[in-house]
Amino acid sequence: MTDGTLARTRLGTGGPEVGVQGLGCMGMSAAYGPTDAGEARATLERALELGVTLYDTADAYGAGANERFLAPFLKAHRDEVAVATKFALTIPPDDPTRRIIRNDAPYVRRAVEESLRRLDVDVIDLYYMHRRDVDVPVEETVGVMADLVREGKVKHLGLSEVTGGELRAAQRVHPIAAVQSEWSLFSRDIEAGVVPAARELGAALVPYSPLGRGFLTGSFADADTDLTEGDFRRQLPRCTGSNAAANAALLEPVRAVAAGHGATVGQVALAWVHQQALVHGLAVVPIPGTRSRTRVEENTAATRVVLTDGEMALLEPIASQVAGNRYDDMALTSAGRE
Ligand SMILES: NC(=O)c1ccc[n+]([C@@H]2O[C@H](COP(=O)([O-])OP(=O)(O)OC[C@H]3O[C@@H](n4cnc5c(N)ncnc54)[C@H](OP(=O)(O)O)[C@@H]3O)[C@@H](O)[C@H]2O)c1
Repeated sequence: MTDGTLARTRLGTGGPEVGVQGLGCMGMSAAYGPTDAGEARATLERALELGVTLYDTADAYGAGANERFLAPFLKAHRDEVAVATKFALTIPPDDPTRRIIRNDAPYVRRAVEESLRRLDVDVIDLYYMHRRDVDVPVEETVGVMADLVREGKVKHLGLSEVTGGELRAAQRVHPIAAVQSEWSLFSRDIEAGVVPAARELGAALVPYSPLGRGFLTGSFADADTDLTEGDFRRQLPRCTGSNAAANAALLEPVRAVAAGHGATVGQVALAWVHQQALVHGLAVVPIPGTRSRTRVEENTAATRVVLTDGEMALLEPIASQVAGNRYDDMALTSAGRE
């Protein structure tokens, strides 16, 4: 990284080479309040100029709207970027608090065809199982995913929110290029079992919500009062009420470290995630989400912030002090099954 663009790394032993930071596209169509489509499109382009090449979406984001939104950008830059999408999760529009999880073969086969059509691509670069349906053996689902690779519909496989044991079982069926899970200064449960398994098997870690869904930037303090109605963060225990007030105080050491670097709080949060690659000895490609060009510039610049051992030590206790779970229903996370 000498020209200001991102360094690159490989996802898994045989996976694609991508910029060390990706772009989370969910908020461009769903979950985080009203969006400006023009600015979001410009953000996709700006990210690419800065060396971002991994673009993350899912069929669940806006019930297909986010995949459709990405299609023209992918058409214009198909050979320059890798698109990652996911199956398994449906959020019923009439009840956005509900989650329907499906991992069975007919569902996966239908889901991939629909994602290919909405993205308007011939092949998906990285196809993730978004959530685990415990009624279907993981080997069975990954077996179908492996068939999709053989059929040329998908290039590489990923799993989201799986346990270390589930990852090992999956890897016996087909190489897993990437595990996507929440990992940030506030969410470190995956370090117990998932991260060691990924390192052992040669899979990359793709941390989602590395900015704690925005909380770690200080851009909101209480989802109930600061965010619009329908914003998904109002469902998250740690983002609201007395939990949020307690958690806001945890940003103080992050602010102190940021001041020392002339950086923002969010940049220190991202730098901490990037530094986990060295701490744990595996490829780590966080996918912070933003809909704005200035923020994608700020977020990619975070890869140039290197924290000292003393700063890492100062930040170390934060996660254990966070009030409230990262989801309302932890059964759908790896930590809920480990
Ligand atoms: N596998 C899964 O289950 C799963 C779950 C959640 C998310 N994801 C993926 O991970 C991606 C990232 O996670 P996320 O979007 O939930 O959380 P995140 O990246 O931690 O935070 C995104 C939030 O932070 C704000 N933000 C970003 N950069 C900022 C900056 N420099 N200063 C101030 N605010 C900033 C964004 O607002 P603006 O957009 O307004 O800038 C947005 O509200 C998603 O887009 C999605 O692709 C996957």
